[in-house]
Amino acid sequence: RTDQQFWRGATLRWFSAPGLRLALGTGTTALVTAPRDPTSLGTVNSPIDATTTSAWAELDAHKHAFAPDLRGWFAEDPGRVERMSLQLGDLHVDLSKNLVTDEILASLVKLAQETGVLDRYQAMLAGEHINTTEDRAVLHTALRRPADAAPDLVVDGQNVDQDVQEVLGRLNEFADGVRSGEWTGVTGKRVETIVNIGIGGSDLGPVMVYEALELYANAGISARFVSNIDPTDMAQKVKGLDPETTLFIVASKTFTTLETLTNARLARAWLWTTLAEAGVDLSDEDKKADAVAHHFVAVSTALDKVEEFGIDPANAFGFWDWVGGRYSVDSAIGLSLAIALGPDVFGELLEGFHTVDRHVAETPVEQNVPVLMGLLNVWYVNFLGSQSHAVLPYAQQLHRFAAYLQQLTMESNGKSVRWDGSPVTTDTGEIFWGEPGTNGQHAFYQLIHQGTRLIPADFIAVVNPAYPLTDGEQDVHSLFLANFLAQTKALAFGKTAQEVEAEGTKGALVAARTFAGNRPTTSIFAPALTPAVLGQLIALYEHITFTQGVIWGINSFDQWGVELGKKLALEIAPAIEGDDAALASQDASTQALIAYYREHRA
Ligand code: F6P
Repeated sequence: RTDQQFWRGATLRWFSAPGLRLALGTGTTALVTAPRDPTSLGTVNSPIDATTTSAWAELDAHKHAFAPDLRGWFAEDPGRVERMSLQLGDLHVDLSKNLVTDEILASLVKLAQETGVLDRYQAMLAGEHINTTEDRAVLHTALRRPADAAPDLVVDGQNVDQDVQEVLGRLNEFADGVRSGEWTGVTGKRVETIVNIGIGGSDLGPVMVYEALELYANAGISARFVSNIDPTDMAQKVKGLDPETTLFIVASKTFTTLETLTNARLARAWLWTTLAEAGVDLSDEDKKADAVAHHFVAVSTALDKVEEFGIDPANAFGFWDWVGGRYSVDSAIGLSLAIALGPDVFGELLEGFHTVDRHVAETPVEQNVPVLMGLLNVWYVNFLGSQSHAVLPYAQQLHRFAAYLQQLTMESNGKSVRWDGSPVTTDTGEIFWGEPGTNGQHAFYQLIHQGTRLIPADFIAVVNPAYPLTDGEQDVHSLFLANFLAQTKALAFGKTAQEVEAEGTKGALVAARTFAGNRPTTSIFAPALTPAVLGQLIALYEHITFTQGVIWGINSFDQWGVELGKKLALEIAPAIEGDDAALASQDASTQALIAYYREHRA
């Protein structure tokens, strides 16, 4: 028997016997795990097959009788908007322009209940090994628990709160040192540019947040981000940099990622070359190592590998295997943010995340914004056949948000097996994509308005702009926001043939100018893009993804699908370089492409 402090002040009492684990909670729901077979996946219960629930049958019936009519629904129901508008921290979320009736929403809520979405969320918060294929806890929510959260979260015998606060404290101290100029490069100059070297979750989060909050960078330090193994990326990012004032952060959870380690070596070579060109004495190995110690720090869960690379472990910041790469921007992976934007801004970002974590934990499904948005996505994917989901920020600062969400959502839910290894029973993982408005309006909105596919879209906007500029005649941001409102209105309500004709259009042109409407959107509005609001937005999508994963029975926290390509790349590289035996083992198409490469190589 072991006792475990549970997330919200309750104690979990574990009883173990061969083949059985039983957890009794005080002040919370009891979790009972299935008999445990060491060769099977999972420490929590097997997924409930959503398609066998009574809610699924209800939704199926709704689908067959479905006649979407946003015009009619709005006309007949003056309470719809208020009823379907919810508050999530600072986010005002208007769900009213979605293709649902109250009856459909009720069935969706029931689906979440029948598949145990909130129970599994509690299991996640408590440190259950819900990442079944890697037998790991999933605790990104622990990264943003307040320092004074009580009681401490203890998972697998480890005090997670203490670990998180210890690293956060070191991270902030280091960031302050760099910002104040106490930390210098090898020639004594203060840092002016940080270059984060990472890929996937070790890049997309930091770059997205930096772009969104750059306005807060107030220490004279700017950030650049290198991710691609295409050497062009590194070449472009170090262009114009002074090596004496540049600090590289090598960010890699595993510290084995080909792209990141290759780029780290490229950066080290660049540092040595350019420092030498600037007259710095690098005549022996000790001096070179000293330069690396002053210009390289690392973030990783594999601190031994960091040391092997030559980075002083004192300048390395750890995190834990229970933080998935795409959920890691709020871990030490955010070091570039803590330095460029400051520990206070980073802290506010974390608070924003935590606001949403608490909302999900404490709010019934009917009012639970991330769960409801996840349920709506299930409705669109599994019942109305939509295959993609657009995220359209009306805030230029969020121009990398969709790119960030692509990894979060698709690496999480692009799966065909469930968390017990059985095949999924329904479609999963829609494609997330998007661009900021109004750019997208002049590119792909045509298809959303008049194409044959149903593309639910989230519009994200802020009331107060980062730069309140005027062109001398009007507040440009109001005009910008008018576009956000106009687009969601046009998508919802369309334009009938009669309305088109009433404007004088005749003949075949009438059909071309008609908008069917009933194109679903969610509007997310916030007072301004503060660090807290950004944290809330990220956590919102994390938990939408979680909700969909649970309903589909998916382990949203592994990513085996990226492994095969990585392995094959290592096998193919020698063939490109001229190894004929390696070439001979390739398929005919790969051989022909390599032949083309060899023929055209300059
Ligand atoms: O290849 C996919 C992936 O493992 C992502 O999940 C991860 O975010 C990225 O690679 C980078 O991994 P690492 O941080 O270990 O370098």
